[in-house]
Amino acid sequence: MPNISSRKLKNDDGTADQALRPATWEAYVGQERVKDNLKILIEAAKKRGEAADHLLFSGPAGLGKTTLAHLVARELGSPVKVTSGPAIEKMGDLAAILTNLEPGEVLFIDEAHRINRMIEEVLYPAMEMRKLHVVVGKGPSARTLTLDLPPFTLIAATTRENLLSQPLRSRFGATFRLEYYRAPDIARILERSAGILSMAIDAEGIEVLARASRGTPRVANRLLRRARDYAEVHGKTVIDREASKGTLSLLEVDELGLEPQDRKLLEVIITKFGGGPVGVGTLAAALNEERGVIEDIYEPYLMALGFLQRSSAGRIALPPAYDHLGVVRRGDLL
Ligand SMILES: Nc1ncnc2c1ncn2[C@@H]1O[C@H](COP(=O)(O)OP(=O)(O)OP(=O)(O)O)[C@@H](O)[C@H]1O
Ligand SMILES: [Mg+2]
Repeated sequence: MPNISSRKLKNDDGTADQALRPATWEAYVGQERVKDNLKILIEAAKKRGEAADHLLFSGPAGLGKTTLAHLVARELGSPVKVTSGPAIEKMGDLAAILTNLEPGEVLFIDEAHRINRMIEEVLYPAMEMRKLHVVVGKGPSARTLTLDLPPFTLIAATTRENLLSQPLRSRFGATFRLEYYRAPDIARILERSAGILSMAIDAEGIEVLARASRGTPRVANRLLRRARDYAEVHGKTVIDREASKGTLSLLEVDELGLEPQDRKLLEVIITKFGGGPVGVGTLAAALNEERGVIEDIYEPYLMALGFLQRSSAGRIALPPAYDHLGVVRRGDLL
């Protein structure tokens, strides 16, 4: 089975997603501490007439890192160039991007944990001293040219901060970790999105969808669109509690937002491995899922719920997971 869940999380309905993407601080719900810090950083850079410090945004998929990067560029009044770690294959790719930057421009590098090490080496002096060292020629006649770069701001985003090399991490002026959104923030996002999409949804409908949104705006928007389909097909003019619940059950998403694969992951740990610890590689094989998807998509939310613990020995299912699945713990039977 392919990894349906990760695809669902990643590939949203592109056009609708653009319409829902917040373009102002007011529209960017939640993450107040991050916003406060960024506002100061931006204002200070503007006052000094300098490029803002390089920034790193980390956190689980769909929490708003890309959105935030565009928002920062917009607030700086800077154009933005977008690329990603895996897209920069050769040194020449990065050199071309860097030498074509306009003064003050924002360079957004998504999936920064996938930048290869050789490219990173080129990035260090570029970030630190705005110097680009390029090797021209081959063999004995090869020499290094040093080019001056315009002032620029690198904004990098990653779902896996721990995979970023220490030297790269240390070159950012500030790192911001996005956290899962609280239910009231997700509720506000649902309300806002419903408004943009001209849909009627009542308070109970919002409450049900918000709880199942995994604290993730992208998931909230996705559930909202499915609920709209559901309501339309069932001749409803308002997304109410029934429509929201019906949508979730159709999608096999439970009230906490767990999908079949999430539940299966917990069940495998509990029933096949006595509650754990079990290695992530073993889990990946048992679920027929990529290890990266388990680590990036499933585990962060299960840990946030207090259902799962990562230890050096492996993954352990915690008591709330047993309760949620309605499984009796072995110790409880004695
Ligand atoms: N704070 C927010 N307020 C309202 N909507 C948001 C917010 N953050 C994100 N969204 C919505 O969620 C969608 C996903 O956000 P975004 O693409 O920025 O996430 P991401 O962190 O870059 O995800 P990935 O790690 O997969 O690249 C956006 O299109 C936007 O509509
Ligand atoms: Mg992104």
